[in-house]
Amino acid sequence: MKEQIEQLLEEIKGLKCATDKEVEEARIRLLGKKGEVTKLFEEFRGIAPELKKEFGQKLNVLKKEATAKIEELKSMAKATGSASTNSDDVTMPGDPYGLGSRHPVSIARQQIINIFRKFGYDVAEGPEIEDDYHVFEALNFPPNHPARDMQDTFFVSVGHPNPLLLRTHTSSVQVRTMEKMSLPIRVICPGRVFRNEAISARAHCIFHQVEGLYIDENVSFADLKQAILLFAREMFGADTQIRMRPSYFPFTEPSAEVDVSCNICKGKGCNICKGTGWLEILGCGMVDPNVLEASGIDSKKYSGFAFGMGVERIAMLKWQVNDLRHYFENDMRFLREFSPCVEV
Ligand code: PHE
Repeated sequence: MKEQIEQLLEEIKGLKCATDKEVEEARIRLLGKKGEVTKLFEEFRGIAPELKKEFGQKLNVLKKEATAKIEELKSMAKATGSASTNSDDVTMPGDPYGLGSRHPVSIARQQIINIFRKFGYDVAEGPEIEDDYHVFEALNFPPNHPARDMQDTFFVSVGHPNPLLLRTHTSSVQVRTMEKMSLPIRVICPGRVFRNEAISARAHCIFHQVEGLYIDENVSFADLKQAILLFAREMFGADTQIRMRPSYFPFTEPSAEVDVSCNICKGKGCNICKGTGWLEILGCGMVDPNVLEASGIDSKKYSGFAFGMGVERIAMLKWQVNDLRHYFENDMRFLREFSPCVEV
């Protein structure tokens, strides 16, 4: 037994392992249930009592040495890294990251912004919680206009002469721009708006708008028409036609609604344009002199045009989305359809 112990001590001293796996094999060979050290402890039970003290001590030293060596080899194998184990193949493809894509409303909004930026418009933003003055009063809404009703507008505070509310359009940002920017003004106002409407395929209580405002000397309706035509052709294709129908907004006079020729049937009539060949895209008009004056602009010297469009609607027409609710439901099958549209 003495020789065996000495032999094992020698072996342990010289033990070398390159990998975790080899260390584990050495541990099992020495200290495992059927390991050599374990076996010696079993033999020790049967030796003569007078030898027990000497061999007991020797065996304890052996076990200690073996355990310490295994620990040392383990930490060395870890430090040299697992590269040497050949278990990692560095040429294997990496784990793919699940990259997201932009939301169709963000893509459409950015495309609209990019087009008007090219025309020289600045981008302005304003608060979503607004006061009555900037959403209605300064925009020439009469006091009893239905939009000022609780049925149509979400009020944050009531019973106040200038109550807080969730803005129903981003025209409020145009008012703020007129108040503080020097003339001429050429600005677009993208943002979220809120209306107290029942949610359906064609309406939602939250949606996005991009509104525009251009004020300078001698701005005419022809300028408005040209700006909208250029926008429509950039957005829907170079062969797009527009038509204007008379309309009414408290803040513009004259006012118009703009249709573009249906980009599906090219004007022949289909179920998207309901057989008319035209799709409504925005409202617009010449800024009412009352609105200019309310913001301190001389309406005899300056004139301007304004327009406003719903981003969801533009995106619906561009990509033939038939239900507005798709935009808000976060159904991955719908959202993934727009991943190739990340060029913006
Ligand atoms: N503010 C109008 C709306 O929300 C859109 C609009 C803007 C119309 C500017 C005319 C001029 O419906």
